[in-house]
Amino acid sequence: MPAIATITEEILELKRERRAVILAHHYQDAEIQELADSVGDSLELARAAQRFDGDVIAFCGVWFMAETAKVLNPHRTVVVPDREAGCSLVDSCPVDRLRAFKQMHPEYAVVSYINTSVDVKTESDIICTSRNAVDVVNSIPSDQPVLFCPDINLGNYVKRETGRENMRIWQGACIVHATFPARKVVEAKMAHPRARVAAHPECPPEVLRMADFIGSTSAIIDHCVAAEDAEWIVMTESGVRFSLERRAPEKTFYFVANEMCNCSECPYMKRNSLEKLRDCLLHLQPRVELSDETIERARLPIERMLALR
Ligand code: 13P
Ligand code: SF4
Repeated sequence: MPAIATITEEILELKRERRAVILAHHYQDAEIQELADSVGDSLELARAAQRFDGDVIAFCGVWFMAETAKVLNPHRTVVVPDREAGCSLVDSCPVDRLRAFKQMHPEYAVVSYINTSVDVKTESDIICTSRNAVDVVNSIPSDQPVLFCPDINLGNYVKRETGRENMRIWQGACIVHATFPARKVVEAKMAHPRARVAAHPECPPEVLRMADFIGSTSAIIDHCVAAEDAEWIVMTESGVRFSLERRAPEKTFYFVANEMCNCSECPYMKRNSLEKLRDCLLHLQPRVELSDETIERARLPIERMLALR
């Protein structure tokens, strides 16, 4: 029997024994997505973490996503295949700097992208994802100033979409999306003149200006599948190819290499593997551990977002 089948069986057996659910982000390797109970973008996975029967969540994504799942499931065990599956956006927003800002500017409502540490969430008024960021910012009274953290490209996109002037934006960036060069999109458009462009809002403004559609990972997949156009230049992490090709096998999808790795893969997301998934189910480590106080304080801004629809 090939090794891959053995490890798959081991994972499924452990999943049964542990009464575990496997949640996978679209940026995971195809073999992990194939095994998952739910595959989605960060908002869908936060919602999936709210409603399931079982004792353990094996979160195949990055650490901040698993922290969010833990906040929503304080009595369940939440594990991640690799503890180093982080995010450059989380690193760009240390909680002490946010606290310092709040001390100087207490009048600001803090809107934090879900790609932040749980400590930053405890200091935030409301959380958003790339799917609902415009609605979340619009939910704040128009005369209240907003600090949007930490993604500069998503923040600028939201500012343009909402027309909101009283909005300050943190200077963080995603190393995957922010390093997609506009020049490569132009080259791809010239090579594939019939292709349309779909982009994640973490991409730079000059890339977004060329996009026919802008949305979260799941929104990009849904749009490319539903649209009449048969060719798409997809400006996000290449893990979305799995769902795109499964749901629209007749279409063609092109990915553009970024300046960071000359690829379109997230190095944090790709730290997870089937072997590490098996091991985290076996040892229940690495495990997200949060204090009751942190859970209580982070829950409110997350639930405010989830209540918005
Ligand atoms: P989504 O909210 O679209 O899943 O994005 C999460 C992310 O990390 C994008 O880089
Ligand atoms: Fe973070 Fe970017 Fe990776 Fe998403 S793709 S997890 S924003 S580094």
